Amino acid sequence: MKTHAIILAAGQGTRMKSALPKVLHHIGGKPMLEHVLDAARAAEAGACHLVLGHGAAQVEEWLQTLAGPKPDTVLQELQLGTAHAVQQALPRVPDNALVLVLYGDVPLVSAQTLRQLAAAAKDGMAVLTTQVPDPGGYGRVVRDAKGRISAIIEDKDATPEQRAITEINTGLMAAQARRLKRWLSHVKNNNAKGEYYLTDAVALAVRDGVDVKGVAAASDEAEGINDRAQLAQAERRFQQAQTQRLMREGLHLADPARFDLRGALSFGRDVFIDVGCVLEGRVELGDNVHIGPYCVLREVKLGAGTRVDAHSVLDSAEAGRDCRIGPFARLRPGAQLADQVHIGNFVEIKKSTIGEGSKANHLAYVGDAAVGARVNIGAGVITCNYDGVNKHATIIGDDAFIGTDSQLVAPLIVGRGAYIAAGSTITKDAPEDALTICRAREQKSYAGWKKPTKKK
Ligand code: UD1
Ligand code: CA
Repeated sequence: MKTHAIILAAGQGTRMKSALPKVLHHIGGKPMLEHVLDAARAAEAGACHLVLGHGAAQVEEWLQTLAGPKPDTVLQELQLGTAHAVQQALPRVPDNALVLVLYGDVPLVSAQTLRQLAAAAKDGMAVLTTQVPDPGGYGRVVRDAKGRISAIIEDKDATPEQRAITEINTGLMAAQARRLKRWLSHVKNNNAKGEYYLTDAVALAVRDGVDVKGVAAASDEAEGINDRAQLAQAERRFQQAQTQRLMREGLHLADPARFDLRGALSFGRDVFIDVGCVLEGRVELGDNVHIGPYCVLREVKLGAGTRVDAHSVLDSAEAGRDCRIGPFARLRPGAQLADQVHIGNFVEIKKSTIGEGSKANHLAYVGDAAVGARVNIGAGVITCNYDGVNKHATIIGDDAFIGTDSQLVAPLIVGRGAYIAAGSTITKDAPEDALTICRAREQKSYAGWKKPTKKK
């Protein structure tokens, strides 16, 4: 039986107090909704139908950016309840399929739990339930004397005895499509909220003689996100689970509670990451890479033995083996360092290649440049790559030496082995192996010069 997931995501998410639809808020660097789609796919759901309402246009726009197969979407113009929401998608589900109802705002449910839920619904219906100490606001799972589920009663419609039940409905459920279609056609909205409750299908199934199965979830796995506090809690839980996995795989984290990965990390042996680092997108770290405290790495690839010292920010950059980067270095998009390159404090590299063994140890800006091997870029060197309108390239040959505080006004070629004297403003190509010097004027000293005195 093919499984079709119906993901409810039409609600407003008022308590987020956000212009962004709730299901697009991120956990671990990706929208909650993407977590749900991934879980559904991992649970072998053959098709996903997304029920959209509030913020539908924004969600559709995000779906365009999603790699891989896109879920089918259906618009629920008025949010008349969870049963009504499911009904919007049901015509697209064949009768012989199994329906898995998921919530776009219950992002951390595991594929394993979804598989259990689907398997439990083979004979009719299964609901995912959990125990909570404070069940206020949730639908309560009502069981008969034999412990079989007889109904789910919403908080507002429950009797005081039912309100005391601590087993709650997570909202996720699975059912045979043919029967779910029939049950939902009988659901009415004569209840406290005036909504069509999906949960009413449970009592209807029981009336049909179906043994509705309850599948128990860990409470945190099935928790819905309604506000920013719950979002932050879910983020912590997600990060905690992720760091546990990474450490099992051999990553050395100085403190798993002070590490955030918002993407995918691959790493070699004996990789160490100090406290306070944030990694985003795809990050690849070779053997023995060492990342110092408070670094940000986004879309970065580092070769074996490379060391990034404290407070460095690397974005869409690559470095080879045994490089030294930082402290306080900034690699911007397109920075490509070969092996054994040293990039020191307050050095910014943008869209440039830096050859093997080259060094820029302090206070430099290198943009739109191709720097050869064994080049020394002194403190305060700047490639003047922008004329206010266009960007221009700087090419620096192997073994060149760029003296401190020099400006290289691009477009420009500095030849192999060229030596640029400190404090030069270079506007024409500098030849190979020669000393090039261009300073404003000769240095003079004035004997008998008097220091200015402080005005009274
Ligand atoms: C629902 C369940 C309740 C359960 C709780 C768990 C029903 C009637 N009640 O209650 O038993 O304990 O979830 O959190 O199902 N949605 C739509 N369209 C609608 C209405 C809702 O897409 O017309 C979506 C919402 O965006 C949300 C989900 O369905 O993702 C749940 O809706 P919500 O209104 O939050 O249901 P609860 O009252 O919390
Ligand atoms: Ca809710």
